[in-house]
Amino acid sequence: DWTTGNVIEEQIEAIRAQVGEKRAICGLSGGVDSAVAAALVQKAIGSQLTCVYVDHGLMRKGETEQVEKDFVAATGVQLKVVDAQERFLEALAGVSDPEEKRKIIGREFIRVFEQAQAEIVAEAPDDHPVEFLVQGTLYPDVVESGGGTGTANIKSHHNVGGLPEDLEFKLIEPLRKLFKDEVRMVGQELGLPEEIVQRQPFPGPGLGIRIVGEVTKERLDLLREADAIAREELTAAGLDGQIWQCPVVLLADVRSVGVQGDGRTYGHPIVLRPVSSEDAMTADWTRMPYDVLAKISTRITNEVKDVNRVVLDVTSKPPGTIEWE
Ligand code: XMP
Repeated sequence: DWTTGNVIEEQIEAIRAQVGEKRAICGLSGGVDSAVAAALVQKAIGSQLTCVYVDHGLMRKGETEQVEKDFVAATGVQLKVVDAQERFLEALAGVSDPEEKRKIIGREFIRVFEQAQAEIVAEAPDDHPVEFLVQGTLYPDVVESGGGTGTANIKSHHNVGGLPEDLEFKLIEPLRKLFKDEVRMVGQELGLPEEIVQRQPFPGPGLGIRIVGEVTKERLDLLREADAIAREELTAAGLDGQIWQCPVVLLADVRSVGVQGDGRTYGHPIVLRPVSSEDAMTADWTRMPYDVLAKISTRITNEVKDVNRVVLDVTSKPPGTIEWE
């Protein structure tokens, strides 16, 4: 019988058996999946776990601060924050291909985890080795990444198909058989606060896969502003509960002519992609109120430099995936 209680008990036992006296690290992304995975593993092995938050510079506005404060307050986990912004930007320089971006981001995550592992060992060298990496991989991530076969069916999720081949960590993936709604139930049962459990999904590779074209600091800053405006207005309109997630995408390689202020502009479009879904395997575009769309559009074109057009994505999944890359 599937109950959240059973899943938790089973996983705790399995994790304890797997880890023994050794230590583990868990990558936290600020999202539901990694938060629930971390809480579950912490329940199983307590202080043998250290969480690592990689600030890769691909986060949305305010996200890093939220992880540093809210998540730690809610769970009491030991947290290590690594500023890896330059490293990720350098690795992504000149790259536009979506799968290549995903593989680079997946690889850099692991390199940062390895560095964190070395630091944790150096801080307590006599303690047991840090051998395990906890990931919040879900069932749909596995399916869409080709089941870890190395060939993506659809796209390489950063924590499955995007892993480097020379991975030295042993993986702990307690959510690998679950769908998002089940993960939320497990999180609730573990006592995580609503703000974490009900968070809309956000992909591990972050804004890096929401810039169509090369990822640069300027483009990230621009997209962060547009995304913050869209999120603010969706929340103000009370739509968060109805929308599964709303990617905001910058078409950095596209320009169109506009007229703003004193004259002609030649700027970039921003795409709004509000979707409704049960499990992210399929989705429909959300029929959002026009006045909310109008407000978001007006604010983004007024407040975000170099953006002179906002377009709405009215494609379901299939044929379009939720993210653009
Ligand atoms: P797609 O674009 O495949 O997205 O329809 C399905 C769901 O997965 C999220 N997503 C990811 N989540 N790592 C993640 O943790 C990833 O690499 C990744 N790629 C897509 C996406 O936001 C949507 O919720």
